[in-house]
Amino acid sequence: MGDGAGMDKNTVHKTNRFYWNTKGNDHLGAIVLPLYGAFVSEEKCQLFGDVSGKKMLEIGCGNGQSLQYQGERKAAELWGMDISEKQIEKATQHLTSCDLSARLICSPMEEECGIPEDYFDFVYSIYAIGWTTDLEGTFCRIASYLKKDGVFIFSWSHPIHKCVALENNSLVFNKSYFDESWYSVPLDLSGEGLLTLSDRKLSTFVNALAKAGFVIEQMVEQPDDELMLSRDEDTSDFAKKAKMLPLTFVIKARKR
Ligand SMILES: C[S@@+](CC[C@H](N)C(=O)[O-])C[C@H]1O[C@@H](n2cnc3c(N)ncnc32)[C@H](O)[C@@H]1O
Repeated sequence: MGDGAGMDKNTVHKTNRFYWNTKGNDHLGAIVLPLYGAFVSEEKCQLFGDVSGKKMLEIGCGNGQSLQYQGERKAAELWGMDISEKQIEKATQHLTSCDLSARLICSPMEEECGIPEDYFDFVYSIYAIGWTTDLEGTFCRIASYLKKDGVFIFSWSHPIHKCVALENNSLVFNKSYFDESWYSVPLDLSGEGLLTLSDRKLSTFVNALAKAGFVIEQMVEQPDDELMLSRDEDTSDFAKKAKMLPLTFVIKARKR
């Protein structure tokens, strides 16, 4: 089932915007650079390289901490966009307090919102791309923002992580890897604050990148040994799973 099937874009946006405007990342916790996700870090992967003097755009910029990371590494321009007014407000406050200037735009990533075309050296996104209701359309838009040879880097939950649960110390498939249907989940114990999403296959991401004219240069799904070791005492299901399968993937692709 591809994007569009069983899903109404406006309803998804309304549900998810409400979540990020109210719960924000209080429950999920922010995932910000140098971390790409669970046990994967830019400090080890070095996917960006030297960003000094580069024009950067973050898709789904959340509270602005990843933009701060790029600003501190002397990026020339910082741009961010997010569907949630609350997240944009938090990012504005955060970057101002860090003495960094950024252009922040409140919009769904699927829509035209005044971001310049053929302009950026890097477009990146940390755990936000998967919220799009139109993956191919979003990748085409991102390609249009980049200069020729510009780089797109994004991280997201590894789809295998979404299919496997730890039960009595065994990993058990509890969902089909191939099932991309949209669903809603309460993400806190009170049962309030629904999020609506689809778990796309890796091939869906790869094929959508190819259709948008990207060439994949690198993919990371291996956790960083040092980050894993630092959590050696961690007996959570999450840490146990991370020893057996990838929880996060990162893709670096170039516009041709
Ligand atoms: C998990 S957060 C990632 C941001 C940041 N890395 C963090 O951890 O706080 C997801 C972000 O994507 C934004 N988002 C969700 N759906 C979106 C959409 N369709 N277009 C643009 N932003 C969206 C949310 O408002 C939220 O700030």
